[in-house]
Amino acid sequence: MKSWTATSFGRPRQSLTLIQSLPIPTLPPGAKHSRLLLIKVSHVSLNPADLVLMSSLPPWLPFRRNPVPGQDFAGKVLAVGDAVPCSVKVGDRVAGATGLREAFWGQGALAEYLLVDCGLVAKVPQREGWGAREAVGVMGIAGQTAAAMALRVVGGGTNDETEGMMKGRRVLVNGASGGVGSVLVQICKGLGAEVYGVCSGVNEGLVRRLGADEVIDYRVHDPLEEYLAQRFGEQQLDAILDCAGSQALYAHSPRYLKPEGKFINIVGGWSQGIVPFVRNKLRPRLLGGTPRSYELFLLSASGKIARRVAAWVEQGVIKEAPIDSEFPMEQVVEAYEKLATGRAKGKILIKVADTE
Ligand SMILES: NC(=O)c1ccc[n+]([C@@H]2O[C@H](COP(=O)([O-])OP(=O)(O)OC[C@H]3O[C@@H](n4cnc5c(N)ncnc54)[C@H](OP(=O)(O)O)[C@@H]3O)[C@@H](O)[C@H]2O)c1
Repeated sequence: MKSWTATSFGRPRQSLTLIQSLPIPTLPPGAKHSRLLLIKVSHVSLNPADLVLMSSLPPWLPFRRNPVPGQDFAGKVLAVGDAVPCSVKVGDRVAGATGLREAFWGQGALAEYLLVDCGLVAKVPQREGWGAREAVGVMGIAGQTAAAMALRVVGGGTNDETEGMMKGRRVLVNGASGGVGSVLVQICKGLGAEVYGVCSGVNEGLVRRLGADEVIDYRVHDPLEEYLAQRFGEQQLDAILDCAGSQALYAHSPRYLKPEGKFINIVGGWSQGIVPFVRNKLRPRLLGGTPRSYELFLLSASGKIARRVAAWVEQGVIKEAPIDSEFPMEQVVEAYEKLATGRAKGKILIKVADTE
């Protein structure tokens, strides 16, 4: 089979090589009680975290021999282990994302065949016009993160009662045109929230189409915090979901976020994520800490949350899979270079193989 692997350390152009003839993986022999599935991969979608792992974990680390990048996949089940619940069968079309463990170990999705734990997949939604291509766009890391963030606004549960609690909430999504934001806008709107999407002007049409009641161009309204203080000073927001990692947005939030409101950030770098997280969580209000709750959320991918996303697709809460572009398997480097610009409008996909 064909598979991409990182043979050195750094940017995709320097580090990635397409290997043409690796053996196709098989379920481990005698794998009684195995929860593994063998999947023929049709599509993969890319995430910024792939680039972070490629440039921060060298391939010579003993636990990362011939690491394969990529986390999101869609494809057809070819074989199932003994302990796989009977709800997943040979021939099923599934999608999902590999977990953190697999990502660190380099057991990624950019290969024609993939062995993956059945707890990480969900069936492709049954909806006209939706196939593997659309499923990989919303059921991978970005869509699962969007789902988990939306559910955290209403307390974390996944039942109809908690979902109903989204009705009428005023939610701001920063980074509304990206892989996460574009699904998040749809979920919040679909569950009844009033949604304000922040993106650059060129993406206004997209974010409006996805359901935002109002689109705020952060380049026109610069500094954004001043604009938000004017716009939402009187009628404050219930939640700010930050998919772009802005410390200023949090630091000024008492001017536009209700005292009991939620601020959730998903960007985890040193300057945007971890250092601000420590400061935002630990600095007491008396010493200048911001008097609003702060959460740095990290997704743990699972089939359960992918199933929730698929259900929302079937119910029409998620209306479309925002896809920026699709590249053939041979052009993964070019696809990663596009992702690295930080200007994707939805997901960048790789067509890996035909699975008919
Ligand atoms: N914690 C987690 O579990 C988790 C999970 C998934 C992703 N993430 C992180 O979340 C971030 C977003 O991921 P993604 O997949 O959505 O990335 P993406 O698809 O590359 O989207 C990036 C988006 O950011 C927007 N953007 C850039 N600068 C901005 C700014 N100053 N203000 C507002 N928007 C801005 C761009 O929109 P415009 O061109 O319109 O500006 C672009 O659409 C990444 O850092 C990723 O690593 C974390």
